[in-house]
Amino acid sequence: MIANQPSVRLAHAGSLATESPLRDLEAIIRSRTPLIAVESNEEPQIVSMVRQIATRLQLKAFRWTVTEGLRAFDPCDQPQQSVFKSPEILGYIKSSAKHSLFVLLDFHPFLQDATHVRHLKDIALNYPNHYSTVVLVGYAVQVPEELRPFTAPFRLPLPTLAELRAIVIEAAADWGAENGQREVQTTNKALDLLVRNLAGLTATDARRLAVKAISDDGVITDSEMPEVMRAKYELLGRDSPLSFEYETARFSEIGGMRRLRAWLEMRKSFFVDGAQAHLDPPRGVLLLGVQGCGKSLAAKAAAGIFGVPLLRLDFGVLYNKYYGETERNLRKAFETAEIMSPCVLWMDEIEKGLAVGDGDDDGLSRRILGALLTWLSERRKPVFIVATANDITRLPPEMVRKGRFDEIFFVDLPAAENRREILSIHLSKRSLDPAQFAFDALAEATTGFSGSEIEQAIVSAMYTAHAQGRGVKQADLLAEIQQTRPLSVVMAEKVEELRVWAAGRTVACD
Ligand SMILES: Nc1ncnc2c1ncn2[C@@H]1O[C@H](COP(=O)(O)OP(=O)(O)OP(=O)(O)O)[C@@H](O)[C@H]1O
Ligand SMILES: [Mg+2]
Repeated sequence: MIANQPSVRLAHAGSLATESPLRDLEAIIRSRTPLIAVESNEEPQIVSMVRQIATRLQLKAFRWTVTEGLRAFDPCDQPQQSVFKSPEILGYIKSSAKHSLFVLLDFHPFLQDATHVRHLKDIALNYPNHYSTVVLVGYAVQVPEELRPFTAPFRLPLPTLAELRAIVIEAAADWGAENGQREVQTTNKALDLLVRNLAGLTATDARRLAVKAISDDGVITDSEMPEVMRAKYELLGRDSPLSFEYETARFSEIGGMRRLRAWLEMRKSFFVDGAQAHLDPPRGVLLLGVQGCGKSLAAKAAAGIFGVPLLRLDFGVLYNKYYGETERNLRKAFETAEIMSPCVLWMDEIEKGLAVGDGDDDGLSRRILGALLTWLSERRKPVFIVATANDITRLPPEMVRKGRFDEIFFVDLPAAENRREILSIHLSKRSLDPAQFAFDALAEATTGFSGSEIEQAIVSAMYTAHAQGRGVKQADLLAEIQQTRPLSVVMAEKVEELRVWAAGRTVACD
């Protein structure tokens, strides 16, 4: 049980096998379906459901596994001969089945074999002579084309919040029983957060994470949630072009960007706590700007401000690793992001992923853009997008049209005041005392520098000083600064072009 939680005690929801999926599966069986494909890792629950349905409909019921062979649920129905091998079980169903349900567990590897497929098709075609249904259960059941017309798919719905709460309470009770009846310590807020964070997982996975959260110390706290979300991502995110970014950032590490910060802070509670006060939840921003001025850093800080996980969509991985399955995997990435919500989805350098019109990819990038735009406007879950770009000429115009993003922020080269802040941040980061430096002169000397170039000048000055066995001085910094040819000089036209485009179309982030 959970300590200091009277409301929680009352909420025990009992068995998770709720009526509705049971009724749905029964309806499929009643509708004379010869084959049912169940993709699930909740094997015990499916088996128990089939058993209940068999009793209700007065059918015989059997289960088969490659290790244990065929067994009847009711000892009176035990098959006369032993039936082990996969062709034997199908032969047995073909010759002996009458008004029965057969649950074949982990049969999917055999579906790749033409003989097995033909046996199953015979069973399906012969249904009016035996009225038996074969239920294929496995983590992933790929039904071959030949069997599709005879097969009904079935999925267990994911647990509701009330069911997830019951799972956590059950896990707490189990922990208590194993630990001398101690009570799990938590607060209402932490418990609610844990339950909400388990949403989107199957009952088995949710139970696993709940046990993990409780078992180390018998306490559920807010501070465990990042770890829970990371573990949740591991369960979902395998094989996806999304990566979980462990490092978020704080705005205190960023010089400037005051307006962006205030914008995010104002929306924080609406984003995290759902639609309050009938305001539309914030959907996302596009950060457009000069290279090295902190766009990526700001994306990380957005997740930091909201206090939610940061997922990154890597277009390079999407195109290369999943060649030929790009669109499917993009959809999967969106699904994962929605299950992980509330979260920030960071799409870095979108122009590289969406540059359309190259004409040599059979319209793939066009289709990807279409899928992305559709999802941007239709997504229902709190997934806050931070997209970054620095080349507007390669950015599809649809992307920057009004309404796609809540706001397009322009990240310009830092002004003098911001350069001072950036200098101070990066000196302190490297344990140098900012008070030892004359900021006005440094800020003046770094006119036209990006944040990244300022940082690099500090790093190089440290090397120089270190090589001479002494600390960094003002003169070292000035010397490095003077040797640097900033991008704003080298690529002056490009930067100017970007600024001209941004004026009137975007909002300054400072
Ligand atoms: N405003 C800033 N405040 C503090 N540090 C900054 C700032 N801008 C840049 N930096 C430093 O430069 C590094 C590189 O910046 P970042 O990768 O965020 O730039 P970017 O705008 O994403 O560049 P690119 O367009 O090349 O991707 C940061 O990790 C940070 O250390
Ligand atoms: Mg970047």
